[in-house]
Amino acid sequence: MNHFINLKDIQAKHLRKIIQDAKKRKKLRKKLNILEFDRGAPLKGKLLIQMFEKSSLRTRLSFYLAIKQLGGGTITLRSNELHLGQGGESIADTAKILSTYGDGFMLRTDNDKKIENFRKYLSIPVINGLSPSSHPTQVLSDIFTVEEIKKKPISKLNICWIGDSNNVLNSLIAASVKLSFKLSIGCPKKFQPNKDILNWVKKNKKNIYIYNDRKKAAHNADVIFSDKVISLNDKSNIKNKIKAFKYFKIDKKLFSNAKKNCIFLHCLPRGNEVTDDVFLGKKSHVWQQASNRVHVQKSILLYCFGKLR
Ligand code: CP
Ligand code: NVA
Repeated sequence: MNHFINLKDIQAKHLRKIIQDAKKRKKLRKKLNILEFDRGAPLKGKLLIQMFEKSSLRTRLSFYLAIKQLGGGTITLRSNELHLGQGGESIADTAKILSTYGDGFMLRTDNDKKIENFRKYLSIPVINGLSPSSHPTQVLSDIFTVEEIKKKPISKLNICWIGDSNNVLNSLIAASVKLSFKLSIGCPKKFQPNKDILNWVKKNKKNIYIYNDRKKAAHNADVIFSDKVISLNDKSNIKNKIKAFKYFKIDKKLFSNAKKNCIFLHCLPRGNEVTDDVFLGKKSHVWQQASNRVHVQKSILLYCFGKLR
């Protein structure tokens, strides 16, 4: 059994294996929105318990399809409908029950410590479906999408992120260290990645550059990523933050600094950080990016259940 909490804690060879498996699964699957099993239904009889403490569309649905197509089932809990959410029952007791009834636990939470606590008490794998500090299932799937479109390993590409230093960027930074790709980040000075993350990057001596200028960050890029400036439950001064990001918008002009065939990716949902003509334009692959999550969730589930071949 394996947990899937942070990319930085997962060996690069396992991340690679997950991507490889997802490639094979995607090739074999003719129709995505159908509950027909993958060959051999490798997770037959397994129950994935999902719990969302924050909104979700893509993560919820992609895990639903993924476990069903692997032959298993899923139930979604809302934390405010449990005794835990009302403060009456401890995480330890809740975890014991989850481990008795289910085979895996996917949690989206506003509290990183909660995931760690569940990990401590669960005897089944826990998957981080987004936390304040990371969004690992999203980023692994995005790497799959980049390599699928570019037909090259990500280590041979220049990746650019223009946007907030949020959970998705943190996971992209972890992926850059693990899978050795160049990452150029464009963001206002006040909203740079935090010191702990930068120290970790420094320690690992990797290829990550920060610019307080969107054009410099986009220079020679093969891929430009972005995300909402204001994430779910962002506690910062929203007015100030939006003002600081005024010069970090993704528009058509920005792409003149990047490589000619540069693509645009965004995990969704979107805000005002990108213009409609980019988001809906030829360089954008955001819908393919979203649908790929099903294939990659499957391989993540197989990794967690110790069934990745
Ligand atoms: N990208 C993503 O995680 O979307 P949801 O918040 O809709 O799950
Ligand atoms: N950074 C965003 C990602 C949403 C999928 C958030 O945390 O809201």
